[in-house]
Amino acid sequence: MSRYDTDYSQMGFATKAVKSGEGPDPVTRALNTPIYETSTYGYETAEQYDEMLERGAAWEPDLYIYSRTTNPTTSALEKKVMALENAEDAVITACGMAAISNALLSNLNAGDHVICSDDTFMCTSSLFADILPAKGIETSRVEVLELDNIEKALRPNTRVIYLEALSNPRLKLSDLPAIAEIAHAHGCRFIVDNTFLSPCVMRPLDWGADIVVHSGTKYYVGHGDALCGIVAGRKEDMDRVRYYYDNLGSHISPYDAWLALRSVRTMPLRVRQQSENAMTLAKWFESRPEVDYVTYPGLESHPQHMLAEKLFLNGNFGGMLCVHLKGGYEEMCRFADATRIPPIATSLGDVVTLMFPKKAYGNLIRISTGCEDVNDLIADFGQAFEKMK
Ligand SMILES: Cc1ncc(COP(=O)(O)O)c(C=O)c1O
Repeated sequence: MSRYDTDYSQMGFATKAVKSGEGPDPVTRALNTPIYETSTYGYETAEQYDEMLERGAAWEPDLYIYSRTTNPTTSALEKKVMALENAEDAVITACGMAAISNALLSNLNAGDHVICSDDTFMCTSSLFADILPAKGIETSRVEVLELDNIEKALRPNTRVIYLEALSNPRLKLSDLPAIAEIAHAHGCRFIVDNTFLSPCVMRPLDWGADIVVHSGTKYYVGHGDALCGIVAGRKEDMDRVRYYYDNLGSHISPYDAWLALRSVRTMPLRVRQQSENAMTLAKWFESRPEVDYVTYPGLESHPQHMLAEKLFLNGNFGGMLCVHLKGGYEEMCRFADATRIPPIATSLGDVVTLMFPKKAYGNLIRISTGCEDVNDLIADFGQAFEKMK
């Protein structure tokens, strides 16, 4: 056995992040996975090509025919993701919405019913409000913190329960083991979007989810320079996702897959720092007279703090917090405009702290902490409070 075939499955998370899925390129021995910018792959004979097509149709790993279907750079990322999510298989897509739509479409047909939590990312909400119902799929939105609501919403044709583990934007934490039990008792697939936490903080498959999806654009990529989507779970489910992903054309570019692959190696380090910064900032904001309340799963004041302590890993509570200032829209704008370090921007999970003030969410300021020195962030937010007065 080659030293590069080492099995990392029993090793630590950080080792898996650095080592899994990668080794020297079989042709050149390049130690870092090359960016395979090719749409197609050349074969020697018609017979060999025919055999490859047959094997490719069964999703055999490390077999390349056309890059909409498989690409070696993307495959390396898939293998790394499998290791980090504790999944049998993983599929990488162009972005988070491609991951979510493929996960849902590969499990739902016209006449089926899906239950979704009431707090989700805007585009996910559009899927459940408009796009799925227009295709004959029934949807129910319920507050999933109350398990009874899920039980009551179940119908004979319910096939999927879908939610965001830590929800966008209100940071509600769902009881994954309890909801998985309900889903499985009714023969439903349980699909969890874990974008806001990342596998460094929690791994939904370990708590009973069947499929985990991510906007890999966020913590996986972590540098705000590529879009990426992730679906992971059992091989049988991923084969079905691949069938949809291939036919719908949801693939990531090899260059973006490579950016993600490079970034994943430092994800455990980044998320640890982001979690520490978030905890310090959450406590600081909570102590400020200008603040009405702070939502952060690491604070005892968070309604699901005890659940977070049970489900989360290594004392990390993630890098997402929401700050609700006293006053209204004007105060929120004055405060946000006066800050100098965090850009006002969509997205999250980057090494740069990002701030997302939103009137429509009740003047909530969502902060995604980066890896800056937290004292500089506190000084910046402190001077913004002075200017807000
Ligand atoms: C929770 C969540 N899921 C999915 C998405 C969509 O991801 P992408 O922008 O990569 O398509 C987002 C985007 O912000 C998100 O916040």
